Amino acid sequence: MRKAKNLIRQTRYVEQSLFDAVGGEEFFVKLVDGFYVGIESDEVLRPMYVDQDLTEARRHLTLFLQQYWGGPSTYQAERGHPRLRMRHMPFVIDGDARDRWIYHMHASLSQIEMDEALRDQLWTYLVSAAHSLVNTP
Ligand code: HEM
Repeated sequence: MRKAKNLIRQTRYVEQSLFDAVGGEEFFVKLVDGFYVGIESDEVLRPMYVDQDLTEARRHLTLFLQQYWGGPSTYQAERGHPRLRMRHMPFVIDGDARDRWIYHMHASLSQIEMDEALRDQLWTYLVSAAHSLVNTP
């Protein structure tokens, strides 16, 4: 179901996942690496990550996004069902934390050259996912 939702119509006859359309794993690694450069110096978000060097956190987000957009389901195999809202409950995510997350993701995405329609599609999802994870007024 999710897979079908994320298929984009490339031509009248051929459908391709966004994962393939943006160039696969390399794109997602770049996006998430850039995002974590911002996290590293964020005084509110950085302390939430218990992981010392952010290696695991980086890997989990990369795998999740790849899977969501039609790439390999390694995230599911390693971590099980995403349950993102539940997994974020231990952290205080208020409007400020959400906006900081969005800010760093925007900074990273804007560094990458890509098709603008795909960028919009990805961006709309990321912003709405960030809004859905707010758990503190
Ligand atoms: C709204 C602001 C957000 C904050 C403050 C936040 C913060 C965090 C933190 C602190 C972790 C734990 C990392 C660790 O293991 O050390 C985490 C994990 C994760 N986050 Fe977020 N996050 C946010 C939004 C999002 C969004 C929008 C997505 C997806 C589009 C996302 C996807 C994930 C994933 C996949 C993990 C790893 C889950 C696992 O397998 O354990 N996060 N996040």
